[in-house]
Amino acid sequence: MASSFSLTLLLGLLLITTPQACQGWKTFVVPHKPGQDDTPPLLAALANYTSDSTILFEKGVTYNILTPITFPVLNNVEVAIEGNLTYPEDIPTIQAIVGASTFSGSWIAFTGGTNVTLRGSLDPQWGWIDGHGQAWWDAMQQVNRPHGIAFSKISGGVIRDMKIWKPVAWNFATSGSSNLHAYNNKILAISDTSSFPFNTDGKPPCFSAGGTNMLFENNHIVNGDDCLTVGNGALNIHWRNTYCEGGHGLSIGSLGKGGQVANVQNVLIESTVMNTTLYAARFKSWTGGNGLARNITWKNIVFDNVPFPIYITQNYWDQGVGPQPNSTSPNNTHIQDFLFEGFTGTIRDTPYVEGSCISDPCWYAVPGATGKEVAIFDLYPGTASNILVKDTFPRTETGAPVTVMCNPETISTDVGFKCWDGKFIRTAAGL
Ligand SMILES: *[C@@H]1O[C@H](CO)[C@@H](O)[C@H](O)[C@H]1NC(C)=O
Ligand SMILES: *[C@@H]1O[C@H](CO)[C@@H](O)[C@H](O)[C@H]1NC(C)=O
Ligand SMILES: *[C@@H]1O[C@H](CO)[C@@H](O)[C@H](O)[C@H]1NC(C)=O
Ligand SMILES: *[C@@H]1O[C@H](CO)[C@@H](O)[C@H](O)[C@H]1NC(C)=O
Ligand SMILES: *[C@@H]1O[C@H](CO)[C@@H](O)[C@H](O)[C@H]1NC(C)=O
Ligand SMILES: *[C@@H]1O[C@H](CO)[C@@H](O)[C@H](O)[C@H]1NC(C)=O
Ligand SMILES: *[C@@H]1O[C@H](CO)[C@@H](O)[C@H](O)[C@H]1NC(C)=O
Repeated sequence: MASSFSLTLLLGLLLITTPQACQGWKTFVVPHKPGQDDTPPLLAALANYTSDSTILFEKGVTYNILTPITFPVLNNVEVAIEGNLTYPEDIPTIQAIVGASTFSGSWIAFTGGTNVTLRGSLDPQWGWIDGHGQAWWDAMQQVNRPHGIAFSKISGGVIRDMKIWKPVAWNFATSGSSNLHAYNNKILAISDTSSFPFNTDGKPPCFSAGGTNMLFENNHIVNGDDCLTVGNGALNIHWRNTYCEGGHGLSIGSLGKGGQVANVQNVLIESTVMNTTLYAARFKSWTGGNGLARNITWKNIVFDNVPFPIYITQNYWDQGVGPQPNSTSPNNTHIQDFLFEGFTGTIRDTPYVEGSCISDPCWYAVPGATGKEVAIFDLYPGTASNILVKDTFPRTETGAPVTVMCNPETISTDVGFKCWDGKFIRTAAGL
């Protein structure tokens, strides 16, 4: 079922990638000097290459990106990363830059424009961005970590063939962009030690979709936080054919923090493998939020060794700051038309401690859960409707019966299984 918006998007992309006469097209090969920071010469030249240009990090060169790159607004520009890029290796150097008031927020920041392509290389040896994250993970260092690549306010963007090796923390954020196609990207946050690739504070992780008309496909991600986060304001997001390992899940939210009015609509997440992740599909909105999240589908999800395949909370709060607040707000972020269809796989129901767990109880612990739940619905009464789990075939690793958590007083529509804290029993709507 190719959704109509992604067809529109693909047509749009075909139009903008139709070859043009190359008259006036400029190519800038980013210079490199061994042992020096390659960012300043690049920044100095950029003013001449803000339109109809290729900015090329050439193959055969390992560039030292020792200070952040902020691109000006670009029109018809391709940034091609065919060489390797390396972050500073020592932590204090980066922390000092991130802590400074002048820091844009991301080590590589695109700040706007139209028809912008960011692409890597198909050569397995080249085109990598090395964040040297291992030292940060080993030190459990979470102060002043840089975000990776902000691809903001771009209309008509492509992110393809990018390869990220040991990012310090977050990777791609696409806030405020539209008509984006992100494909064939690889993010490998694989630790060589027992240290966890940390990012526990819920900020944008591998792909953070915060705009409209976006297609993410054929990406390969091994990391320590959400594989996808769909943020407030996201509209028409399509994600498919992707492999995620070791992180937290395919998430919507968190929404409605501090009473914010959320708006997320028309999200289709499909054909994705979730391997040894904490969640497969997850929705979270804060206690006391406002607004609406609607028409969100997770479909054909294979989960392997996942403790929480399907998890919704409309009562999220920061466990780090104490017990759940007694909300005085009569409101909450409403949710409607959520479909979880075609989930198959194994629930990790043997004792485990996920790497991001550094408190007792863990931040993801659910009071009363048995660990055998295929779905946990923590809903706010009167604000959830038409939430359905369908064609779902889970089993536990121990062979114990699969269970669910659901309070029938919180939802009146058929959720596809008997809504209770007990065995997973499909209802007619769930078949
Ligand atoms: C930008 O282009 C102008 C005109 O071609 C040239 O004089 C100038 O040196 C260039 N600036 C840089 C930084 O390359
Ligand atoms: C969009 O940018 C690409 C290079 O990334 C270029 O080949 C193409 O001509 C541009 N499209 C338009 C409409 O200028
Ligand atoms: C490019 O960087 C990647 C990741 O750090 C590394 O595995 C690869 O060997 C590098 N390529 C070369 C030619 O050094
Ligand atoms: C729901 O979202 C899908 C994309 O996932 C879109 O194709 C469809 O038109 C939307 N339906 C409604 C009623 O908005
Ligand atoms: C998950 O990863 C394990 C270990 O690498 C592998 O054996 C297994 O086949 C993977 N599962 C899926 C569904 O890809
Ligand atoms: C919420 O209310 C309950 C009972 O009224 C009380 O025990 C609890 O301490 C309150 N929680 C907070 C965070 O104030
Ligand atoms: C509750 O929602 C209404 C209608 O959207 C809004 O006017 C009001 O400010 C909200 N109240 C709080 C406490 O957020």
